[in-house]
Amino acid sequence: MKFLITGGAGFIGSNYLHYVTDKYKDDYFVCLDALTYAGNYNNIKDLEGKNNYKFVKGDITDRAFIDKLFSDEKFDVVINFAAESHVDNSIKNPEIFLTTNIIGTEVLMDASLKYNVKRYHQISTDEVYGDLPLDRPDLLFTENTPLHTSSPYSTSKASADLLVMAYYRTYGLPVTISRCSNNYGPYQFPEKLIPVVISKALNNEKVPVYGTGENVRDWIHVHDHNIGVDLIVRNGKVGEVYNLGGHAERHNIDIVKTILKQMGKSEDLITFVEDRKGHDLRYAIDSSKVENELGWERTYTFEDGIKETIDWYLNNEEWINDIKSGAYKEAYKD
Ligand SMILES: NC(=O)c1ccc[n+]([C@@H]2O[C@H](COP(=O)([O-])OP(=O)(O)OC[C@H]3O[C@@H](n4cnc5c(N)ncnc54)[C@H](O)[C@@H]3O)[C@@H](O)[C@H]2O)c1
Repeated sequence: MKFLITGGAGFIGSNYLHYVTDKYKDDYFVCLDALTYAGNYNNIKDLEGKNNYKFVKGDITDRAFIDKLFSDEKFDVVINFAAESHVDNSIKNPEIFLTTNIIGTEVLMDASLKYNVKRYHQISTDEVYGDLPLDRPDLLFTENTPLHTSSPYSTSKASADLLVMAYYRTYGLPVTISRCSNNYGPYQFPEKLIPVVISKALNNEKVPVYGTGENVRDWIHVHDHNIGVDLIVRNGKVGEVYNLGGHAERHNIDIVKTILKQMGKSEDLITFVEDRKGHDLRYAIDSSKVENELGWERTYTFEDGIKETIDWYLNNEEWINDIKSGAYKEAYKD
């Protein structure tokens, strides 16, 4: 089968490509990425030369380009990881989030319909469900939880999800959606909590924590997310939504302290900063549907996964420094 993987130079997409290009030698994977500031060709450079893989630079919102790509390549499966993904940026500038996350999804689905793609899979997020109170640990998001968003980011993702279901119902496009909790692991751009803490602490810089750090996220190793995506794409039922969660709820402040401890750094580096506008309190996912129906299992405990992840960043300081200096922008040569 021939796969289109959009956003494959980003954090989750690049981990996905490393996983599947090794696992499925008979399938072929085309990585499409616009290489925005968050796209890092260094994440996928070592895939060059694999005979079941190629990279194409391009924008999912460019309708003429996408039409030609689909016409030339005749994809069987499309997995849309491409997105503007940073909540803080969406608060400062919502428009690009609406363009990439909603219009980009529409453009990909129009081409998928026109060229008879057999499966369109949308990578979504638990943020589409809004947040849960901190004092109700019994409450979890299920696939039936109403969409109730807080930020322009989550609203753009929820809008795309609704459009995906509309293309299923109206045009019969064979779709699936996965909604995952917060990912951690290698190749995450140092604007998100875990790589920010590591990269600041490496230089003994102050580590910013929003509000009091009491917000709770449900952390999943990126590899476990990608195992779930692969299962859903190959075995999931068309027209269905599947939640993927880490079953590892942690307060942000505890994540920061865990990292500082492993790095041998003082908690004095922590500095509390003004809270994010509309900051969601708690996310927690019920993944029982994908576990029971498709046999999905996590392979990492949080304790093992976070330790391995911190070690990865410490062993790949050059990867972080290339981002800090901007050199990563030169990694891709046309
Ligand atoms: N990071 C998380 O914890 C998390 C959790 C759940 C869901 N998600 C979802 O997973 C997906 C991937 O997230 P991520 O953390 O890897 O994001 P990321 O920001 O690291 O990567 C996004 C990638 O998309 C590319 N891109 C952006 N706009 C594009 C465009 N118009 N055309 C082509 N490529 C474009 C970027 O260059 C980048 O390589 C997103 O859809 C996100 O909403 C992320």
